[in-house]
Amino acid sequence: MITLEHVHKNYTTSKGTIPALRDINIHVNPGEIFGIIGKSGAGKSSLIRCVNLLERPSSGKIIVANEELTTLSAAKLRAARRKIGMIFQHFNLLSSRNVYDNIALPLELAGHTHKQMEDTIMPLLELTHLTDKKMAYPAQLSGGQKQRVAIARALASKPHVLLSDEATSALDPETTLTILQLLKNIRDTLNLTILLITHEMSVIKSCCDRVAILQEGELIEENEVGEFFTHPKTEVAKNFIASSVLQHLPAAIERHLLALEQPDTHPILRLWFLQGTATQPIISEISRQFNLHINILQANVEYIKNHAMGIMMIALRGENAKIQPAIQYLKERSVQVEVVGYVPNDIAV
Ligand SMILES: Nc1ncnc2c1ncn2[C@@H]1O[C@H](COP(=O)(O)OP(=O)(O)O)[C@@H](O)[C@H]1O
Ligand SMILES: [Mg+2]
Repeated sequence: MITLEHVHKNYTTSKGTIPALRDINIHVNPGEIFGIIGKSGAGKSSLIRCVNLLERPSSGKIIVANEELTTLSAAKLRAARRKIGMIFQHFNLLSSRNVYDNIALPLELAGHTHKQMEDTIMPLLELTHLTDKKMAYPAQLSGGQKQRVAIARALASKPHVLLSDEATSALDPETTLTILQLLKNIRDTLNLTILLITHEMSVIKSCCDRVAILQEGELIEENEVGEFFTHPKTEVAKNFIASSVLQHLPAAIERHLLALEQPDTHPILRLWFLQGTATQPIISEISRQFNLHINILQANVEYIKNHAMGIMMIALRGENAKIQPAIQYLKERSVQVEVVGYVPNDIAV
């Protein structure tokens, strides 16, 4: 439904050329929710704006619903764009118009009659749970309600594709979940294809089918979401996953964490139980076999699309000569081990 082929985007500024996107290739299937995650400045907005040609790529092809947008005349491009809805972080509603009239805007511009508009808008108000807010103005709405109005407006021209540029970034976590649930409902009821960009792993986890990581203008990893969480390929992917499932180390440990091993220190390990490996038996086993003292600092098991993934942080104390064999033992049981750092033995947690 959405295909990007060898898309490059350079911005020319007084300070020179900024390569914002480099050789982007993406294929989003009909009815799929495809997420792109990346840090600030990675090129996410540039990428999504290229999909509807709000930003023209410097080179490459953009194909949406079988039309190669990059070759269309201005008039044909306008028509094709009506089939691509877009929502934004800051909603972009007109404050002088009530909810109904905000949603009506694209239909007015397309020359629909009042009756046609009403036939389109009333079901959309219902779908987005806004029927009782029909006459309210944006200033009278919560953030979540405003985003629902923006979603209804984006759907008014019956698009095939919805683009979402950080649509939940201005919302609290609970409201974020309701908006993501709404996007999933819309995909299911209207069979829409959704491309969304975000800097939050939790968004990917709760609503995407597939995900790609954008880093410095390049797509560095792409996978089905369950696989992405259980078999991350790059360090960047692992860091995104860790940031979504882990809080911080206990403050006393964080403060004294050393990057390199020193005398009278012990390691802090992060263990990834990626392939459904049961966590507890392995931990008690290394404790027993190697006579080590294990302090579990944090443990998390996540279920993403029926894949179980556990991440655990442990402090490992005991005879130095036993620590490497214990790590080896873990690795042989498909546990991925990262040494987070070393903590002096006299630090109490
Ligand atoms: N209109 C523009 N002119 C010049 N540089 C831009 C423009 N828009 C974005 N950039 C630059 O392109 C890079 C990617 O920006 P952007 O696509 O907004 O990233 P993201 O949405 O991931 O934060 C950044 O270095 C940014 O400064
Ligand atoms: Mg952005």
